Amino acid sequence: SGAKKLVVGNWKLQGSRSANAELLQGLLAADLSASAPRADVAVCPPFVYLAEVVSALQGSAIAVGSQDVSAQGQGAFTGEVSAAMVRELGARYAIVGHSERRSYHGESDQLVADKAKAALSHGLVPIVCVGETLAERESGETEAVVGRQLQAVIDTLGADLARVVVAYEPVWAIGTGKTASPEQAQAVHAFLRARLTAAQADAARVPLLYGGSVKPDNAAELFAQSDIDGGLIGGASLKAADFAAIARAA
Ligand code: G3H
Repeated sequence: SGAKKLVVGNWKLQGSRSANAELLQGLLAADLSASAPRADVAVCPPFVYLAEVVSALQGSAIAVGSQDVSAQGQGAFTGEVSAAMVRELGARYAIVGHSERRSYHGESDQLVADKAKAALSHGLVPIVCVGETLAERESGETEAVVGRQLQAVIDTLGADLARVVVAYEPVWAIGTGKTASPEQAQAVHAFLRARLTAAQADAARVPLLYGGSVKPDNAAELFAQSDIDGGLIGGASLKAADFAAIARAA
């Protein structure tokens, strides 16, 4: 669409103090502010690096997000990290419901929706991930699956629905080098847009990101689709030159 794009890097379980410093230096040197009129940019490191990454990016055009957040506020929840803590460190976004969390950690649609609600209530913008597996696509269930995943968020957030970001990530395209075609991605994005708009008129403008093997050489055609408002980038966000090129493709 014609609106400003959002390009988010998800570092997943990767990085170290020295590797992060080198990557961030590369991003700062690439001067992403040159793409700022067309794209907002953010990076999502592991929790333990949030403070350092926020501090390294202070004064730049690059925002920071977490890769997950607890649905709980506080209490006896060993190992959890709350939205208030993430927000206090200066992050702006929180990814919730990534397919790796849904599949390896058994996160339900309702838990993901509760995480989105916790993020919003502490001033974070949740990036809610939805997406079907290859088996689900092949059996014609794509819309049923992403519709069900989205519905929990619609029901849980109510009037706050318009404040989220949604990322469509077909599981079969994540880390596989197998990108959804621009037409395949656009079709699902149009479905998500319609569902959001039917739930709440304001939610028509919720940014819809595509994720799954986005690279410098396929980003522009994906971002050119009318309902693709940006990208959630895994592997290619670990190389400054690639991530900068993707942001510039917006
Ligand atoms: O969150 C990012 C996605 O899972 C995409 O990962 O770009 O490595 O395929 P990828």
